[in-house]
Amino acid sequence: MDGNGRWAAARHLPRLEGHRRGAERIFDVVDCCIDQGVSALTLFAFSAENWRRPVEEVTGLFKLGEWVLKANLARLHRRKVRLKVIGDLEAMPDFVKNPLKQAITDSAKHEAFTLIVALNYGARQEITTAVKNLAAEALAGKIKPENIGWDDIANHLQTSGLPDPDLIIRTSGEHRLSNFLLLQSAYAEIVFTPVHWPDFTKEEFTKALSEFGKRERRFGMTHEQINHTKTP
Ligand code: FPP
Repeated sequence: MDGNGRWAAARHLPRLEGHRRGAERIFDVVDCCIDQGVSALTLFAFSAENWRRPVEEVTGLFKLGEWVLKANLARLHRRKVRLKVIGDLEAMPDFVKNPLKQAITDSAKHEAFTLIVALNYGARQEITTAVKNLAAEALAGKIKPENIGWDDIANHLQTSGLPDPDLIIRTSGEHRLSNFLLLQSAYAEIVFTPVHWPDFTKEEFTKALSEFGKRERRFGMTHEQINHTKTP
């Protein structure tokens, strides 16, 4: 959800106003996902590196997060959204952590759509923890190092049980992944848009989906193989 700060600066508004307007976009996009048959959406809400921002911005973001959840809880349940968090939630303040944990428990039964919030998340940190846990299991004799495969690694990531992203959308004209789902994105299509997140409307999201629809996903195969295996 990049570009909130620049959106605000262009309008001579405080950065937090950009984040607030960005937060208003979240459930438009969630609605759009559900209506268009997308099964899961991950929002990069706060990276493990975002703690480096001024303390007022960090606190403001957390308060905004608490408000977004409270304001949309009924909608979340009405639309049968299962909420999940990836990242180190334990390091978050109680006023963010506790309502989130409650919403995760209360929405666990929903199956229509999964909304994953990446909060205090960093892919390198996630991979480091996975490697430590695998190494500990190997030392304890629970797993043989020579038998470790991709599935074992994937099962030790915080996204275990969740689908890999098919599409990653990066808003605001930046062309990088910024420590987001680095292993899970191995075969993801990436759409870059110059639009800042507060302007990322349902129409913009639909445009990104349609761009995704035009991509040929080869997964290592040739164009001819892909077209041969397609049913007419
Ligand atoms: C990046 O824009 C955006 C963020 C760091 C925060 C996005 C989060 C929300 C909109 C919702 C808040 C919810 C929670 C749970 C924290 P930027 O500030 O990097 O924009 P810029 O690059 O234009 O400065």
